[in-house]
Amino acid sequence: MAGKITLTIIKPTAFRNNNAGAILKMINEAGFKFKALKLVKLTSGQAGLFYSVHKDKPFYESLVQFMSSGPVITALLEKDNAVNDFRTLIGATNPEKAEKGTVRYLYGTDLQQNAVHGSDSDENAIIESDFFFSKIERF
Ligand code: CMP
Repeated sequence: MAGKITLTIIKPTAFRNNNAGAILKMINEAGFKFKALKLVKLTSGQAGLFYSVHKDKPFYESLVQFMSSGPVITALLEKDNAVNDFRTLIGATNPEKAEKGTVRYLYGTDLQQNAVHGSDSDENAIIESDFFFSKIERF
């Protein structure tokens, strides 16, 4: 059965461009509840760890550098069918291929600076939530 949580990150460019408020509003209006939320600047080591599943990919170093280039907002979200519904809300990884009206269509600029991250499975939603949030940071 599909899980009820997913983890998102509003990436450095989207935060720097003052799009975080609009993105959080879209998330809320799509029926997601915020179980945890924080503003954080990752070190390159932390970004590397978060994206370690991609460590053999050619874009890994550049992705790590980008994700540690400025503050991000990360949130633990709750909704039925959270992972899939959130992926529908944000659209395809590449903003050029994302459906009109999705978060990445509206606020992404390229494949790397695609505005937001969303967990790709229930298993990763748990791993990623544990990466960012302790028990006392969850509500
Ligand atoms: P995200 O959902 O955060 O998960 C992994 C990220 O890697 C992805 O969004 C993109 O930002 C980035 N990514 C995936 N594929 C590529 C690629 N081919 N080139 C550059 N960046 C990529």
